[in-house]
Amino acid sequence: MRDKFRGRDYLGLKDFTKEEMNELIELTQDLKRKWVMGEPHAYLRDRSFGMIFEKKSTRTRNSFHAAATALGAQSFYLRPDELQTSRGEPIKDTARIIDRYFDGLYIRTFGHEIVEEFAQYMKNPVINALTALEHPCQGLTDLVTIKEKKGDFKGLKVCYAGDVYNVCHSLMIGSAMFGMDIYVAAPKGYDPDPEILRVANEHAAVSGSKVIVTQDFDAALKDADVVYGNTWHSMGENEEQKEQRIKDFMPYQINKQAMEKARKDAIFMHCLPGYRGEDMTDEVIEGSQSAVWDQGENRMHTVKAVLVATTIK
Ligand code: CP
Ligand code: NVA
Repeated sequence: MRDKFRGRDYLGLKDFTKEEMNELIELTQDLKRKWVMGEPHAYLRDRSFGMIFEKKSTRTRNSFHAAATALGAQSFYLRPDELQTSRGEPIKDTARIIDRYFDGLYIRTFGHEIVEEFAQYMKNPVINALTALEHPCQGLTDLVTIKEKKGDFKGLKVCYAGDVYNVCHSLMIGSAMFGMDIYVAAPKGYDPDPEILRVANEHAAVSGSKVIVTQDFDAALKDADVVYGNTWHSMGENEEQKEQRIKDFMPYQINKQAMEKARKDAIFMHCLPGYRGEDMTDEVIEGSQSAVWDQGENRMHTVKAVLVATTIK
């Protein structure tokens, strides 16, 4: 069943069908069950993976190390400042060499075209660990977490409040793909990437769901099953606008009053890192509706699934 994934890059939800994402969700659930039961699942013994992170990370980087180890593989952190790319060696040269050593490459970087260029020059899979456009390992995690907590997707309403960027884009596509209404609540002038909006709307037309970008936070929260937060100032690219962004986004803070506008059984999700007192409050992240610790754990199970599915035999 999984042969169609072999050697395939995992750069964004936009590149996958609903059926394919569903297979990755099911594979994640199977690998999680094995981990919980203590069943061995070292499917990638003696394999090795490279990792390049041009931005900070706690979850993405360390869940990958843990996942690779549990699969019997090794992961090697390639510091960007120690690679010859930092002295001007072209990506296309670096990519072809790395491809000869490793069974795959995991990259967190700035523009999406950078992961695309690595992917173009590598036969082994390239996995996007976050670009400006998408955060697909987070996107898969979010789907798995919603399925675990809510049982199914169809008919659910997701309210997202945070920077309209990578995490939001993958969540928009994932929600629309699986029939969930997605409301992105953000101040005027903070809009999703038009291509992402187009892809999400295409999925919504098939699944019968809605993709709404609105300044009306109350309308987005009303009857929401999932309230999803994220930082207002993403790493590296808009941090210089931090003060302005805090002012603009403050009305969209996920606090107790906001959670009360959603369904009583709504869950609170957040990709983390979160900023207490900005994008959410202590009360919400520490409260009984918070699913963030299970969501964070799921990062490890989902990246295992991506590795098992895409690594060339
Ligand atoms: N959610 C997430 O990607 O976290 P890190 O930045 O810590 O990897
Ligand atoms: N939008 C955030 C996500 C962090 C996981 C960022 O890019 O910094």
